[in-house]
Amino acid sequence: MAVKTIEWRADSVRMIDQRLLPNREVIRIYRDYRGVAEAIRTMVIRGAPAIGVAAAMGAALGFKGYAGKRALARFEKVAKTLRATRPTAVNLAWALERMRMVLEANLELGGSALFRRMRTEAIAIHDEDIAANRALGNHGAVLIGKSATVLTHCNAGALATAGYGTALGVIRAARDAGKKIEVFADETRPFLQGARLTAWELHKDRIPVTVIADNMAGSLLSSGRVDCVIVGTDRTAANGDVANKIGTYPLAVLARRHNVPFYVAAPLSSIDLDCASGAEIPIEQRSPKELSEFAGKQVTPKGVGIFNPAFDVTPAELVTAIITERGVAYPPFSKSLAKLKRGS
Ligand code: MRU
Repeated sequence: MAVKTIEWRADSVRMIDQRLLPNREVIRIYRDYRGVAEAIRTMVIRGAPAIGVAAAMGAALGFKGYAGKRALARFEKVAKTLRATRPTAVNLAWALERMRMVLEANLELGGSALFRRMRTEAIAIHDEDIAANRALGNHGAVLIGKSATVLTHCNAGALATAGYGTALGVIRAARDAGKKIEVFADETRPFLQGARLTAWELHKDRIPVTVIADNMAGSLLSSGRVDCVIVGTDRTAANGDVANKIGTYPLAVLARRHNVPFYVAAPLSSIDLDCASGAEIPIEQRSPKELSEFAGKQVTPKGVGIFNPAFDVTPAELVTAIITERGVAYPPFSKSLAKLKRGS
């Protein structure tokens, strides 16, 4: 995709403002970690791998001029602010932990050398994410027929990552392998990542895409037109339970009901072996306004209750396979995921 989700340029972090897509392409520039934290919290940037990269770059920005013990204390402060932005995607904590390890290994460096080292690491996390998505895409493309219709939910594309995408990476790789791919995108209430973002990037890439309201997925799947469902993940537990955008779980139930394979595209940075099952995954609750208002206008009676969890957990038993950059994991996931993650 020609538009970059996030990049480090001239010691600032640039992001396309995803809240304004598809109508306006506005680039935001951040020179301070607090700005990056606010961008993650308010969803200027979103998607598990993308917020991991943003947190790493934010942590690097927070380092200018710090060295030795002061650097450690500074890191704790910066990381705390970044970590508090969104709790579900493990990539954010994973990227901060990687930055902390680099810091601890380089405490003898002077202020500007330490900053340069942290900057190099953040850029490496960005670049490795794209490479992982390309490898994951190639593994996943093998699972797709020569001519296939794919249903996806939310946005697990270039916009949700440093580039190329996970679920949409599989679709891109299948298309590049000469397969004829058609995509149905759930609109994904209430933030409309499917209608606004998935449709935008696939259309830009000339991959045929049709948007449906979330409540149309059952009728679409029962029509027999869908060959497989592919979604991303914010955190996949050691047993294969998958946290992803709210609405993923009902899609998995429907897919099972209609004998349609349900695939999860999960870079290893989204797999959390320290989390035994989905019950341990923290689920972010977002502002009631995302539901009570639409395009700035109140749509529910004032004073009624609003429940707005941003993610749900799909039990491993509904997942056909989990696609990673090291290969495809099949049930039992407690064995296959651990093997792929440990690289043995
Ligand atoms: O709330 P969001 O837009 O950050 O949620 C994003 C998702 O649920 C994605 O499917 C997930 O992060 C995987 S992105 C490769």
